[in-house]
Amino acid sequence: MTFLVTAATGNVGNATLQSLLAIGQTVRAVSRHTREWPAGVEGVVGDLNDPDGLRDAARGVDGAFLLSGYPSEAGVLEALPDDAHAVLLSSGSVPGGSPENAVTAYHLESEAAVKASGHSWTMLQPNSFMANALRWQPQLDAGDTIRLPFADVPIALIDPSDLGELAARALTDRRHAGASYRLSGPEALLPETQIAILSAALGRPLHFEAQPDDEARAQMERAMPAAYVDAFFAFFSEHTLDETTVWPTVHEVLGRRPGTFAAWTRANAHRFLSA
Ligand SMILES: NC(=O)c1ccc[n+]([C@@H]2O[C@H](COP(=O)([O-])OP(=O)(O)OC[C@H]3O[C@@H](n4cnc5c(N)ncnc54)[C@H](OP(=O)(O)O)[C@@H]3O)[C@@H](O)[C@H]2O)c1
Repeated sequence: MTFLVTAATGNVGNATLQSLLAIGQTVRAVSRHTREWPAGVEGVVGDLNDPDGLRDAARGVDGAFLLSGYPSEAGVLEALPDDAHAVLLSSGSVPGGSPENAVTAYHLESEAAVKASGHSWTMLQPNSFMANALRWQPQLDAGDTIRLPFADVPIALIDPSDLGELAARALTDRRHAGASYRLSGPEALLPETQIAILSAALGRPLHFEAQPDDEARAQMERAMPAAYVDAFFAFFSEHTLDETTVWPTVHEVLGRRPGTFAAWTRANAHRFLSA
């Protein structure tokens, strides 16, 4: 069977692509750029922000892996064959979340569009990704002190590879149709502990410092719209999102424990060595 994988170079999209290839499926992979892809992959150049840009890519496939919040979603859902399955990478903020939170809102809208499309579907509702640690690179380049916000919030980070494997399972096995999977990693870790684990993996002394809220807010406002900054402060400062609870879902669906942050940092240590 052939599956459309959007954001196929991203953390989860690429893991989905690899998982599909590993179980003998073929993939139509979307990137904004022409790329070399492995055997079994047909590359498609397309932009998730183009409302009609992925219609052709969606025709004739058996299912699609989609991200929330992109204008191309409606066109893909229309162009997919009627019996194609849609897997949406949504967010753990959706169950019980408020549409007044700007991040929750775009995931809610995408979930609603997928559910209204008539396709069978599976929702992945994960916690924060382990790969977010790669955003610490500028601080790692500048020294051994890593300042992070929300220092008192333990998070059960999830390995994007587990999400890719789950997406591949959901695309190829209709027993996952109609499921909304709330997903976490195996253990809730404070930011200070996350830094200690990365320090061990890199073999490099790293020191954690709690970043004050005003400094964190100013930094985040340089990187994203103000409504999203408010959304993340609501999640982690006002505790409207629980990413501390460890959910059994990865184990239940994949039949194995989810990956640990220690294992992820060891496997991805090479990605931190740009300094
Ligand atoms: N990070 C978290 O903690 C977290 C938690 C819950 C949910 N999520 C959701 O997960 C999603 C995916 O995260 P991720 O870490 O897998 O993504 P990612 O690694 O940031 O990759 C996103 C990919 O999307 C592609 N892309 C971006 N803009 C595009 C566009 N306009 N047109 C076509 N492709 C585009 C890029 O590929 P090319 O450069 O090859 O085009 C990029 O590789 C997020 O968008 C978010 O909604 C994230």
